[in-house]
Amino acid sequence: MSEARTAVLISGTGTNLQAFIDRAAADSLAATLALVLSNRGDAYGLVRAGNAGLPTAVIDHRDYASREAFDREIAARLDAHDIEFVILAGFMRILSPWFVGQYIGRLLNVHPALLPLYPGLDTHRRVLDSGDRFHGSTVHFVTEELDAGPSVLQGRLPVAPSVDAAELARRVQTIEHRIYPDALNWLASGRLRYVDGRAVLDDKVLDSPVVREFQ
Ligand code: GRF
Repeated sequence: MSEARTAVLISGTGTNLQAFIDRAAADSLAATLALVLSNRGDAYGLVRAGNAGLPTAVIDHRDYASREAFDREIAARLDAHDIEFVILAGFMRILSPWFVGQYIGRLLNVHPALLPLYPGLDTHRRVLDSGDRFHGSTVHFVTEELDAGPSVLQGRLPVAPSVDAAELARRVQTIEHRIYPDALNWLASGRLRYVDGRAVLDDKVLDSPVVREFQ
């Protein structure tokens, strides 16, 4: 089996990164965490990576004249570390079509909503404002269109009547920490593939994502 060398791209606190680190430490990750890359030097996730002894890189987007120039530098760094899979975990930059083209099918994101509901920002507030009964998080393949690539795995929870946006955010994040490493395991082990714009799991096209229920 390949090493499934994987990079995690972050911009912030990196609680999802920590979930990957913990799964690797528990020997339940089918991928090798080979690089943590941030566009911000002050991202706390870099401290988590350092504590876990993982290689890190900082590439500040402000040092590049265009989105693609920034992305080409990221790709060069990924190549230097022989990276096969790329995990976006709170990476707050939109990737260029060029970058997505390079990594399509090997590039996952987690989004804090039940896509296709609520792409974009401020999802928890929007869910509460709409009075939705369910909320959750989605792991999906990244394509050129923001938050619109084929969904793979969702964690869903009922929205309690009295919950506020901060509590909802915490609960959704806890779900992400459970589902995102599982989705990477599927990808790294070859069970999950991206074929003709669709997600395929165990040789079956996913017309809709696998859904796990949480409380
Ligand atoms: C996650 O909630 C994820 O849904 C979104 O960014 C957040 C990152 O959080 N894409 P963290 O940095 O992993 O704590």
